[in-house]
Amino acid sequence: MAVITEIEDLRQLAKRRVAKAIFGYVDSGSYTEGTMRANKNDLDAIGLRQRVAINVEHRNTATTLIGEAVSMPVALAPVGLTGLNYGDGEILAAQAAEEFGVPFTLTTMSICSIEDVAAATKKPFWFQLYVMRDRGFTADLIARAKAARCSALVLTLDLQILGQRHADLRNGLTVPPRPTFDNLFDMLSKPAWCASVLMGKRKTFGNLAGHVKGAKGLSTLMAWVGQQFDPTLNWDDVEWIRRQWGGKLILKGILDADDARLAAQTGADAIVCSNHGGRQLDGAISSIRALPQVLDAVHASGNEKMEVWLDGGIRSGQDVLKACALGARGAMLGRSYVYGLGALGKPGVTCALDIIRKELDISMALSGVRDLREVNHSHIRVPPHW
Ligand code: GLV
Repeated sequence: MAVITEIEDLRQLAKRRVAKAIFGYVDSGSYTEGTMRANKNDLDAIGLRQRVAINVEHRNTATTLIGEAVSMPVALAPVGLTGLNYGDGEILAAQAAEEFGVPFTLTTMSICSIEDVAAATKKPFWFQLYVMRDRGFTADLIARAKAARCSALVLTLDLQILGQRHADLRNGLTVPPRPTFDNLFDMLSKPAWCASVLMGKRKTFGNLAGHVKGAKGLSTLMAWVGQQFDPTLNWDDVEWIRRQWGGKLILKGILDADDARLAAQTGADAIVCSNHGGRQLDGAISSIRALPQVLDAVHASGNEKMEVWLDGGIRSGQDVLKACALGARGAMLGRSYVYGLGALGKPGVTCALDIIRKELDISMALSGVRDLREVNHSHIRVPPHW
């Protein structure tokens, strides 16, 4: 097997091992994928400042995210269908994150259920909520996350309607995966993937099947989301959810200064500056470019407590360092860890985290930074036209 030295190696391996429709779901963005590319390109456009002759023998990447100790400023993002990249994928990723000392976020659209993950982990994980038209079911999901001792609720605000990803339509993505004349050869050429998914506990939406009508049927993801997700979601609902939950709350999908100002008034503990990995509004600004405006708006609102994190395009420790230097408290990793999972299962998630931490540590050292918490704007060069 080829040596794995960077996230792209895991991506290539996952591409070879995971069924095309599932890999395509993870890998693609909406429409032209312009926003997805911008997330990465704009991170690349930020320079790191090389500093020398500073004693960097002892270094520290550890910090806290919403008061939880983390070994580096990273959390695993909620990713739909994780458990179809590798059987029991959510359990494996949660265990890898727990052992590594970073939070894991279970999505509403997971294959393993909240209860499955709780039974297989020791530390609390985070639960990501999509608001369904059936508010009784939404309240029930929140209650299940509480019963599972989840330590934070991540409320996604940028997916009231699903952005179109061409790959999913072309590949005829269904949940559970369904062998058809068009995909049979692809599935048969990936026997390890077939075996792991077949042996996994579940093959469909674990949080929803048995709870939501039609949630276990074969349907395209888009059709299903169209039926179930609530497009009326608004700031009053955020307040309702905050009260129902009563614990730490993270709002994900804030990309605009006006929304950041509103989010700062909700009492949320953190927001994630995000365009959903370029999977929703194609044409939206990259998340790293939006970050300074979002931070300015939060600071101007006088909210000193709410943390601001970033996701979108993070493929390396250098990217994490740049996000933190620009003012993010931390970053969420989505595709980067799911590539690892699809490539190698649990060791692949650990491998992705190891790669990112090592890159972060070495880049800190070569920037003359001993402690991640000291990193600031002076450590980067932002393009003048931003
Ligand atoms: C769901 O979160 C998706 O991006 O498909």
